[in-house]
Amino acid sequence: MAQTFTHQEIADLAEAFEQHTPQQIIIWAVENFAPNIALSSSFQTQSLPLLHMVSRIHPAMRIFFLNTGYHFWDTLIFREQLTREWNLNVVDLYRDARWELFRRNFGRELPRVDPNLCCFIHKVQPMQRALDGLRAWITGIRRDQTKTRAQARIVELQEDGLIKVNPLLNWRKADVEAYRALHRLPEHPLLQKGYRSIGCAPCTQPVRPGEDERAGRWAGTGKTECGLHTEMFQQKDLDPEEARKKFLVKIEF
Ligand code: ADX
Repeated sequence: MAQTFTHQEIADLAEAFEQHTPQQIIIWAVENFAPNIALSSSFQTQSLPLLHMVSRIHPAMRIFFLNTGYHFWDTLIFREQLTREWNLNVVDLYRDARWELFRRNFGRELPRVDPNLCCFIHKVQPMQRALDGLRAWITGIRRDQTKTRAQARIVELQEDGLIKVNPLLNWRKADVEAYRALHRLPEHPLLQKGYRSIGCAPCTQPVRPGEDERAGRWAGTGKTECGLHTEMFQQKDLDPEEARKKFLVKIEF
């Protein structure tokens, strides 16, 4: 029978893992949870070390990519190249069909008018659905990225029993750079144009040298997180009407 963990055991592991390498943490996750485990990746330059490690440790790992419909072409092409070259088991995740009418009417304006609802529809809900029934979820978040991520633990037991594993949590940008250089990893084609953190096209801008690398994400809105790694992720089973009441303030449909 698959091993289960108490909150205390997960807290103790999280503490111990602060001294472990990301590879050791990934191996622990694979040994305990495969095949009921997946990695999620946004396929930007800084995502590559984790993708590279996972593809070497467990080549069959499912890799969830949220195909929001708002990505830069460059991201989609880069993702295709890597998938082929590294033989990755990528699974695209799409928004729920319940949003079709809404999307047809408001899709063009939605990222600008309500980026939170947009992220909920295109990232949070599809990820919740894909993870349903799995035991563990590996992500690439780091403490040095946002205030919320600074509070995260390397392993976390979520309310629904899912175990979230963040192997790079205590890595800094310099560790990512060092790993990329050591393994000669490729870079996202937009990096050279100043895009140092990349999400969906309508909500991503390039940053100037010296600026925080995430300063171009949802710039000018005060938003810093898509919701995959905040309390928004605990909002389960919201239908469009409930979600609209919760997040959407300006659009009627
Ligand atoms: S975001 O909140 O700003 O969009 P970021 O790009 O830093 O997130 O990525 C952090 C983690 O969220 C990634 O390691 C990945 O696990 C997940 N993630 C973000 N965007 C995607 C995406 N498009 N597809 C799959 N996973 C994603």
